[in-house]
Amino acid sequence: MILVFIAVGIVPLTIFSLVMINTYEKRAVNDRIMELQTQENMLSNLLATTGYLATVDSPEIEAEISRLADIYNGRIIIINNNLQIIKDTYGLEQGKYLISKDVLQGFNGTTNSYRGKDKNIKITSPVTHNQSNEVVGVIIMSISTKEIESMRTSLQSTIIIFALTLAILIIVFAVYFSRSLTKPLKSVINSIERLSEGYMEEQMSVKGYTEVERISDSFNKMIIRMQKLESSRQEFVSNVSHELKTPITSIKVLADSLLMQEDTPVELYREFLVDITDEIERENKIINDLLSLVKLDKTAGDLNISSTNINELLEQILKRLRPIAKKRNVEMIFESFRPVIADVDEVKISLAISNLIENAIKYNLEDGWVRVSLNADHKYFFIKVSDSGIGIPEEAQDYIFERFYRVDKARSRETGGTGLGLSITKNVIQMHRGAIKVYSKEGEGTTFNVRIPLNYIL
Ligand SMILES: Nc1ncnc2c1ncn2[C@@H]1O[C@H](COP(=O)(O)OP(=O)(O)OP(=O)(O)O)[C@@H](O)[C@H]1O
Ligand SMILES: [Mg+2]
Repeated sequence: MILVFIAVGIVPLTIFSLVMINTYEKRAVNDRIMELQTQENMLSNLLATTGYLATVDSPEIEAEISRLADIYNGRIIIINNNLQIIKDTYGLEQGKYLISKDVLQGFNGTTNSYRGKDKNIKITSPVTHNQSNEVVGVIIMSISTKEIESMRTSLQSTIIIFALTLAILIIVFAVYFSRSLTKPLKSVINSIERLSEGYMEEQMSVKGYTEVERISDSFNKMIIRMQKLESSRQEFVSNVSHELKTPITSIKVLADSLLMQEDTPVELYREFLVDITDEIERENKIINDLLSLVKLDKTAGDLNISSTNINELLEQILKRLRPIAKKRNVEMIFESFRPVIADVDEVKISLAISNLIENAIKYNLEDGWVRVSLNADHKYFFIKVSDSGIGIPEEAQDYIFERFYRVDKARSRETGGTGLGLSITKNVIQMHRGAIKVYSKEGEGTTFNVRIPLNYIL
């Protein structure tokens, strides 16, 4: 990411600046050349009019030449038509002959100006006789461009320093920003890793930008859910083991006490064996209930849906339960407001409704009544199971659908309940996308309202 910043930002900027410097330098050199050319022309005119080249005896002109050379910090060489150097402001080559391409071209009337490898500007121009137009000599001016050069280097180093500073700043900012962006994410990752290692008790607290805080919130919600699931799982397991152990403990106590006594009368054997059979039956019921719950959990959504006559189904259930009701002299009333045909899993719905009616009989009073009614609208059918029984205390109503929950443990044991019936019922109804509600008043009776769609919705 940092490299991208630099590539996108600094590199083009630097290249642009360097190109600008080059252009500037070229212009500066060109300006200087033009200026010098003018000066050289003026000198050339002066030399031509004074006839200096022929006489070489004019202190004023010599002074002028030296002044010019001084101003530009350069060297001026003047050559006569014998190709002899008659003036060199450096004084080095005076009297010598100079034959070069520039000089020869000068004698042909051409002015040559360029910047040499030594970065000096060199201008060679002819001195033309005023009347005859004949080239009588050549002036060579060689001027250093050190100032332009040093200007260029100093500009260049300023730009390089600027670019470097910018690069460092960008790197620092990029590192800082990426840190502050990735830091909360890292702690999110840490928390998730802790969770996958099995530490479910830790919540996440990440401060950062909004998105990360939202991730952290959702994570915490998930953790809370998992904690609830885990604790209900633990509770379920401990309930199951407790429930399964109770009948076995009783059986063991009964059997032990028979074994300890000698000459036990046959009647006592009988009595104890009846008790043992009861306990075995109880164990059997718990196991069966558990199995059907597990099956419901496992095959959720895997319903065996068929068009079912609900009126007939209810009649059958009532017929099956009537003998039990009769034992307690509980009156069974069935009212149906219309014939109802619905898409349901017949076996499971039958189990669910049986549980409700069984409860209504079990938790009833002697000579009480149970009323089952069936109704429907265009979307749902409704089953209502009311009884004149003991009722469910208000504070218990929230829990009755939980596995193994029983309001009065002692009484329920007497009636053989395991506390699984209602949770099976609720499970089945929810699988059918239905709903169940309870209305109850302690000592007055209880009503369960069930609502199930007529057509099964996937
Ligand atoms: N019609 C009712 N009247 C009064 N209390 C009820 C009624 N139905 C349920 N309850 C209370 O709710 C508890 C849970 O009912 P549930 O059917 O789940 O279990 P159970 O009847 O005790 O055992 P199981 O149905 O598994 O044999 C019961 O123990 C009872 O205390
Ligand atoms: Mg029950």
